[in-house]
Amino acid sequence: MSACLLRGYAAVRYEWAELYQQANGCTGCGLSQARTKVVIGDGNPSAKIMFIGEGPGRDEDLQGIPFVGAAGKLLDKMLAAIGLDRTKTYICNIVKCRPPENRVPTDAEAAACLPYLRAQFALVQPKIIVCLGATAARYIYDESVRITRDRGAWKCKKGIWILPTYHPAALLRDESKKRDAWDDMKKLKAKYEELCPESGWKAPSGG
Ligand code: URA
Repeated sequence: MSACLLRGYAAVRYEWAELYQQANGCTGCGLSQARTKVVIGDGNPSAKIMFIGEGPGRDEDLQGIPFVGAAGKLLDKMLAAIGLDRTKTYICNIVKCRPPENRVPTDAEAAACLPYLRAQFALVQPKIIVCLGATAARYIYDESVRITRDRGAWKCKKGIWILPTYHPAALLRDESKKRDAWDDMKKLKAKYEELCPESGWKAPSGG
């Protein structure tokens, strides 16, 4: 693995329209051949929190929107539990086209797609990145991440606060991980309140 979002980078400075045009026409790796739609991102382009997953699944490939399948519905519930939704966050993936059978993207596929993620990161300018699963964490800040070991521990890189947590699909496969995931959401809520008091955001009580 060679490329990380937050390591030694100079982002390609796309405007949003240019980014969409480039990504929608991209043939930079083999994933482009089987895609239905390129899945670029969803949510608020000025959000302070950016959620990054691995890559689109079948529902996302059909609709062109990230996290709209079963894992996405769980993600929406997790956001709602801490008073957030897609209007207050930006959501995207490491790769923008669906890997066959939802396999983990290869290093070459991730590297080919990284310029788009870098451009998104430069446009959104989040204060917080939540890495959904090991693949996201590895390509965002550290290739040696192990999610069961490292989840829930904040990292600060280049002034950006990064929280690795379980991918919602992992929570669907193993309910026993939900308690840790909920702890991570509470940490996210606390950090957001600390870093963005001006947002006036208040989590629902009881959380
Ligand atoms: N899993 C991901 O990592 N991303 C999606 O958009 C959907 C499922």
